[in-house]
Amino acid sequence: MTARTQVGIVGAGPAGLLLSHLLALRGIDSIVVENRSRAYCEARQRAGLLEAGTTELLRAVGLGKRMDAEGLEHGGIYLQFARERHHLDFRDLTGGRWVTIWAQTEIVKDLIQARLAAGAQVEFEVSGTEVADLDQDRPLLRYTDAAGTRHEICCDAIAGCDGFHGICRDSMPPGLVQVAERGYPYSWLGILATVPPSTDELIYSRHQDGFALHTMRTRQVSRLYLQVPADEDIERWPDGRIWAELRHRLDVPGWELKDGPITEKAISPMRSFVASPMRYRRLFLAGDAAHIVPPTGAKGLNLAMADVTVLATALTSLLRDGDPGPADAYSDTSLRRVWRATHFSWWMTSMLHVEPGPDPFGPELQLAQLRYVTSSRAAATTLAENYTGYYPLHWP
Ligand code: FAD
Ligand code: DHB
Repeated sequence: MTARTQVGIVGAGPAGLLLSHLLALRGIDSIVVENRSRAYCEARQRAGLLEAGTTELLRAVGLGKRMDAEGLEHGGIYLQFARERHHLDFRDLTGGRWVTIWAQTEIVKDLIQARLAAGAQVEFEVSGTEVADLDQDRPLLRYTDAAGTRHEICCDAIAGCDGFHGICRDSMPPGLVQVAERGYPYSWLGILATVPPSTDELIYSRHQDGFALHTMRTRQVSRLYLQVPADEDIERWPDGRIWAELRHRLDVPGWELKDGPITEKAISPMRSFVASPMRYRRLFLAGDAAHIVPPTGAKGLNLAMADVTVLATALTSLLRDGDPGPADAYSDTSLRRVWRATHFSWWMTSMLHVEPGPDPFGPELQLAQLRYVTSSRAAATTLAENYTGYYPLHWP
């Protein structure tokens, strides 16, 4: 079966779905192919914290209704170390900026619903995705649909929004893509629990036995993370041990962590990874397909959505107005934001996690930095403006 579209999009994560939505607002048609089921995409537990610019974008493009009704606006965070909890007031430090707790699962649900309601073609449960003829002006997207029919779509451009393990990055010509990366000798064990959060804003805690984070999804559902060894086995963490360790690492005098039934439990590795350029001719990479940050500081989802905002504008200029300038600049434009967020995520991660081994130098540097960030307005402002989103998003 041969078909035609303007933009073939690989991946129905937040990047691919939002790109399809933004292009439609500019009158550009797209087809999204996704190898998982709709239910799987809507239930996959991941990010939960949006920069101010990301929430403003969602509002501006008609996706803010549920977020405004159910999302939780936070004007700061707590940074904890040496059994002391310090508040950073982002609104005060940044002239009014904030962040919003609104789960990736909910963004994906709203996006899928909006795309299908608009009559868009979103193909779930595909297999054998391939991109071809990348050196031509009409690249091809091939896949087999859920019923077993093979399709070939002739595209004006292809967007690789297929995450870190997708196929698009590796389809770029050999030798083109340079990779810069860092591994970390620890992972995060994340849980979702049916219990009201024990805090009004997120708590990032550096503890000598490892990092812990208390975040949330709603007023009834808590999300918490623990630093664990890189190769940790989840079987070693029964629920009772998780709560005991969270209580230990988040402890401050006069405060108590409420526990409840754990509904989800998973270990995620930590990695910094940047592939550049993010484009070869008419194949464009966006989101986790091009870059990964460690989760400390919550940048991954925000970066994915920022990439496709830039990309939608670039593709509109290219395909509707015949102006290749913004598409030519896409990779450089996006990589500036990506590297800012890569530095911030690395910095937050390094300041808060305990390195294995007996070295006393690293911990003293971390404590010196944490004392500085919680006592100097200049240092606190640096954290606050990066956390709430340093580069503004433009969606004219
Ligand atoms: P993905 O969400 O990975 O979507 C890619 C899609 O492509 C997937 O649906 C995949 O199934 C599909 N796909 C892959 N290969 C193919 C193929 N061959 N054919 C068709 N489809 C394919 N970020 C934040 O900003 N804030 C946070 O608080 C935060 N917390 C996180 C917590 C955890 C535990 C984790 C793991 C991540 C977190 N992140 C956070 C990161 C964030 O979730 C990701 O950066 C985000 O999902 C990236 O979106 P994406 O659309 O680029 O990629
Ligand atoms: C969340 C995850 C993060 O990595 C972070 O820094 C803040 C919040 C979350 O899942 O809510």
